[in-house]
Amino acid sequence: MSISNEILTCIRERRSTRRFTEEQISPAQLDALLDAAIWAPSGGNNQSWLFTAVQNKDKLLRLNGIVIKAFQAWTPDDGYPGKLGIKENSQKEGYNFYFGAPTLIIASNKPRYQNAMADCALAMQNIFLAAQSLGLGSCYINQLFWLRDEPAVRDYLQELGIPKERVICSAAAIGFKGAESPAPARKEGTIQIVR
Ligand SMILES: Cc1cc2nc3c(=O)[nH]c(=O)nc-3n(C[C@H](O)[C@H](O)[C@H](O)COP(=O)(O)O)c2cc1C
Repeated sequence: MSISNEILTCIRERRSTRRFTEEQISPAQLDALLDAAIWAPSGGNNQSWLFTAVQNKDKLLRLNGIVIKAFQAWTPDDGYPGKLGIKENSQKEGYNFYFGAPTLIIASNKPRYQNAMADCALAMQNIFLAAQSLGLGSCYINQLFWLRDEPAVRDYLQELGIPKERVICSAAAIGFKGAESPAPARKEGTIQIVR
């Protein structure tokens, strides 16, 4: 790779952080992340996403407890192997689906909207890159998407301000890095150029 600049370096150096310190990010940092999110592209310029940032430790722990219980009764709706592993892990002592991060940003979108996931995923990557640029760690969190139709999860998300009709798309765990993650090697054969 011969061309390099700040953004390209940020893209290359961003990793999923799975260990965070207890320290909360500043209000200015949170503002910057949420601003990055809402400047993502969206299909037909819908901007129909909702980003709910939860920074209250007790509320996050309560959500974690509800997620653990919901996993007990949950059966994956497809053959994705990671899901069964995570269901199993969720029943182990000390499980925390957002890795104990001090901030969790939950992305939801309007129902029956074809680009709901795509729009939120682009916003998530904006959040991750903005976090990296500010020296913060971040990780994509899928559990709330998987459990999006579990009544107890939806009841509590509603208490946190996410209306039940909205589709839960994804979440971002955010905080100061407690450990660096190694960069996974890139797979071969994933690029082709036709000139
Ligand atoms: C759609 C999607 C879902 C993911 N879900 C999770 C998750 O629930 N928990 C987690 O720890 N990482 C999750 N990840 C992060 C990936 O595991 C990670 O991006 C991948 O291992 C590559 O590592 P890197 O992000 O450090 O480059 C998810 C990533 C994507 C794109």
